[in-house]
Amino acid sequence: MKAVNVKAHRTIVSASLLSADLSKLEKEIKKAESAGCEYIHFDVMDGVFVENISYGLPVLKAVSNISEAAMDVHLMIVNPLKYVKAFAESGADIITFHFEAASNIADTIAAIKSLGKKAGLAIKPRTPVQSILPYLEMLDMVLIMTVEPGFGGQSFIQDALTKISELSEMIREKGLSIPIQVDGGINGKTASKVIKAGASILVAGGYLYHADNMAKAVNSLLSCTGEAT
Ligand code: DX5
Ligand code: ZN
Repeated sequence: MKAVNVKAHRTIVSASLLSADLSKLEKEIKKAESAGCEYIHFDVMDGVFVENISYGLPVLKAVSNISEAAMDVHLMIVNPLKYVKAFAESGADIITFHFEAASNIADTIAAIKSLGKKAGLAIKPRTPVQSILPYLEMLDMVLIMTVEPGFGGQSFIQDALTKISELSEMIREKGLSIPIQVDGGINGKTASKVIKAGASILVAGGYLYHADNMAKAVNSLLSCTGEAT
C-alpha cells in the first residue's frame, strides 16, 4: 500500500487528470509525478450528482498500477457508500465523497476507514461549512470546492475563502489537525489566497496540464507563502 501523507499545514499538489491528455495517460501521470505532484486527483462523475460523466473503476485500476503517487479519488456520485469498496479495491488511497450526495455520511466514512483508506468529505460552494462539523473528528481530509463540481477549467469562487478560514478555525478550536483540500480554479494567484485562508492540499487541473512547464507551475503553487497579493 502507498504511504499517504495527509498532514495539515504542508502544501501538497494533487494533479487533476481531467485536464490531462487521456490518450497518453501513463505519460501524463509520470509528468505530474516528476513535476512534484504527490497526489493524482481522480474525478469520478456519474451524470446524476453532476451534469458530466468522466471515468470510473477500470481506469482507476489501470492508473493506480502505473503510478507511485497517491490516488486521490473525488467521488461526484450519488450513493457513494455502495461504491467505496470497489474504489478501494481499484487502487484509491484517499476516497472523498460529497456531503450533498450521501444520507449515511458517518457510515460512509467508517466504511472507507475500515478498508484502510483515508476518508475525505467534500462540500459544494453553496453548502455551509457548519454541515461538516458533526463528522470532523472522523475525517482525514475536508474538501472545500472552489468551483461548482462537474467541469474543469472554471473560475475560482472567491466566497470560498471565507469558508476555508471558518473551517480552519473550527479545526483549530477542536484541537484537530485535518488538512483542507481545495479544488477548482487553482492557479499561481488563487493558491496564495487559499493557503493564507488555511488550505494545504491544492488540486489543479488546467493550470498544470496546460502549462508550458509543469514543474514550474507546480513550484509556483508549492512556493506560495500564503501572503495573498
Ligand atoms: C471539478 C473537478 C476538478 C477539476 C479542477 O468538478 O472536481 O478536480 O478537474 O479543474 P481546474 O483545476 O482546471 O479548475
Ligand atoms: Zn475534483
